[in-house]
Amino acid sequence: SETNKGFPKDFLWGASSSAAQVEGGFDQGGRGLSIWDVKTLNPNTASFHYASDFYSHYKEDIALMAEMGFKAYRFSISWSRILPEGEGEVSQAGIQFYRNVLDELHKYNIEPVVTIYHFDLPLALQEKYGGWINRQMIDAYVNYCRILFKNYPEVKYWLTYNEQNMLTFFGAFDMLGSGNPKSNNDLYNEAHVGLVAQAKAIHLCHELLPDAWIGPAPNLTTSYPASADPKDYIAAQNMDDLRNNFYTDALVFGRYPQSVYAYFEMNDVVLDVHEDDFEIMRTCKPDFIGFNCYGNDTTEHLDYYELDFSDVDMSDNTNKSYLMKLMEKPGVGKSVVNPYFAENSVDGNRYDPYAIRVTARRLTERYHLPVLLTENGYGRPDTLTEDGQIHDDYRIEHLRETIKQMKIGIEEGAQLIGYCPWSAMDLVSTREGISKRYGFIYVDRDEDDVKAQTAEMKRYRKDSFHWYKKVIASNGEIL
Ligand code: BG6
Repeated sequence: SETNKGFPKDFLWGASSSAAQVEGGFDQGGRGLSIWDVKTLNPNTASFHYASDFYSHYKEDIALMAEMGFKAYRFSISWSRILPEGEGEVSQAGIQFYRNVLDELHKYNIEPVVTIYHFDLPLALQEKYGGWINRQMIDAYVNYCRILFKNYPEVKYWLTYNEQNMLTFFGAFDMLGSGNPKSNNDLYNEAHVGLVAQAKAIHLCHELLPDAWIGPAPNLTTSYPASADPKDYIAAQNMDDLRNNFYTDALVFGRYPQSVYAYFEMNDVVLDVHEDDFEIMRTCKPDFIGFNCYGNDTTEHLDYYELDFSDVDMSDNTNKSYLMKLMEKPGVGKSVVNPYFAENSVDGNRYDPYAIRVTARRLTERYHLPVLLTENGYGRPDTLTEDGQIHDDYRIEHLRETIKQMKIGIEEGAQLIGYCPWSAMDLVSTREGISKRYGFIYVDRDEDDVKAQTAEMKRYRKDSFHWYKKVIASNGEIL
């Protein structure tokens, strides 16, 4: 058999984005509102109304992706652009917009990787059903999927649901809803409903589009034990079950990891499982696992205690202590700083270049399926110089060291088929606005939403743009 040396010839080099974070045009083409249009995670930053105006810049943006040599572009479809009320009447203008995007990608031979749902639930469904806790969401989602599969049959790669696991893991505050604590029972019942919905969508995709590939897109990590203490090792295993394997085991094996049931018992979680749920999951057979991975976690054992949120100030968005709190899982473990992580030589920030190598290997061994990296990257402010340049050497270093390790991972057996980091162009981050930039393409706008309405939002090529172009042209040999 052939030994793996470097990246496969047809490796999917590209980048990612999501509808809410790039499109703007929230009131154009008959689009209905999403939950992200009425409430942002951080009121001091840009809303998602205008974002990076991909809605009117898509041709220019796709031409820039082609200039970088992209083989793939991962983007999401806005559910409420297709179905303004979440279900019922279909917007032809919405269908046409993504038809135009797909045609434009086709022109340059860029493979679309389409996320069906990326956080931006139609507001109408939130109001009507109260979100994913309600099993009526299953039909609503599958109906939306059917419309996409019928209208865009040429799409080869479909992703069901972006970072479903993070909505549970960080969901103890209903950040986009009431702002109040949510019970574990509600969170895991929502997760179960969302998994049944995804399993049904996978079945439907295979029925309607037998040549297409469909898989989930959770944020997957691997937990490093905080020490050689066996308790920390077990905590790391249990954390992986709770944070990661719960979602992928469900769709690949049709069951939840056993250790999670112990966590459920401690946290009074009782799942409302209907008769065929596990059978639907067991038989759906995803074709690949998409996964977002920004860095692996490091886990320290925690005995069980009742979490108390009363000391957490959610109104202070600059204070991220609430995020640390949400990463505490009593009875399992908590995330701690890892002193072995690399230090970026430009800005001194810590990061984990091994994350994808380790996690892609782990996923390949566990599921025996191809894996596609759907997000990874480095968000921070950039400076546009007077002569129109962006010297983002910190980002280049971060990506370069990650890609080096990824390549070794492939040589070690990880069945990684592509790398689509976050993000193609600058976009509005989930909590930190447009100032936290991730793109290879700079978008000239600031947090001011009023100005954004008329801003030209001119695009600029960052240094990382020119660098990534060479990486792709050399199939990862020139880093
Ligand atoms: C992932 C999401 O969680 O990470 C993206 O899928 C998000 O939508 C990205 O933008 C980066 O996180 P943040 O909070 O910096 O936007």
